[in-house]
Amino acid sequence: MAHHFHSHSVEHPVQTEGRLIRWATHYDLAVNITTLGQARRLRKITVNQALVNPGDSVLDVGCGTGEVTLLAKSRAKAGSVYGIDPAPEMIAVARKKAARKRLEIDFRVGVIEALPFSDSSMDVVTSSLMMHHLPENLKVRGLAEIYRILKPGGRLLIADFLRPTGSFLHHLYIAFTRHHGLRSGVEDLQGILKNTGFSQIDQLEEKVLTISFVRAVK
Ligand SMILES: C[S@@+](CC[C@H](N)C(=O)[O-])C[C@H]1O[C@@H](n2cnc3c(N)ncnc32)[C@H](O)[C@@H]1O
Repeated sequence: MAHHFHSHSVEHPVQTEGRLIRWATHYDLAVNITTLGQARRLRKITVNQALVNPGDSVLDVGCGTGEVTLLAKSRAKAGSVYGIDPAPEMIAVARKKAARKRLEIDFRVGVIEALPFSDSSMDVVTSSLMMHHLPENLKVRGLAEIYRILKPGGRLLIADFLRPTGSFLHHLYIAFTRHHGLRSGVEDLQGILKNTGFSQIDQLEEKVLTISFVRAVK
């Protein structure tokens, strides 16, 4: 299926109120710097906590360069794995990495607010460091979309920044990302998840610096 999408000649970014990252070729290095060298650990925890089993269908929403998507595919094995992101530059890097590792992953240009998947079709959805790119109204719409495409019993794993505390790490993060507008954190998504209909909403104990994890079940 991935090959079908390779045949599109020019891809344009999708219109969204979410903040796109277009500097895809430097992105992985930037993550490793802002996590003080803990990028690999961050990605491992994310995929472990998403509880991906062999054969699972998985969507990584806002997949960027596909770091989480690639690991998810190595867990899902024969399961279908998808990654979507509105930035074509990100999707291009992700596809290149998958091709290099000979992993068949369906990467598409797309947005969380209009997921190109049918109802109850995914076992697992991951959202890594992307929710803070969305204005509040889009978080609500996006999480409703994720709920729609998850199978009953399907899992959502969100990795994202905790509410800013004014700590040194927080200032370091702002210096690198210039994300000044960050007012809420991953812990604040729990209310939206509950209103959307998710159950077993859990903020996990594990942390990577100021990044924490929330898991929920449809
Ligand atoms: C900080 S990056 C995270 C990338 C990747 N998930 C990771 O963990 O490295 C945030 C991503 O969210 C994407 N994004 C922005 N608005 C979006 C939307 N409406 N739907 C899906 N992704 C969006 C950006 O293009 C960017 O690639």
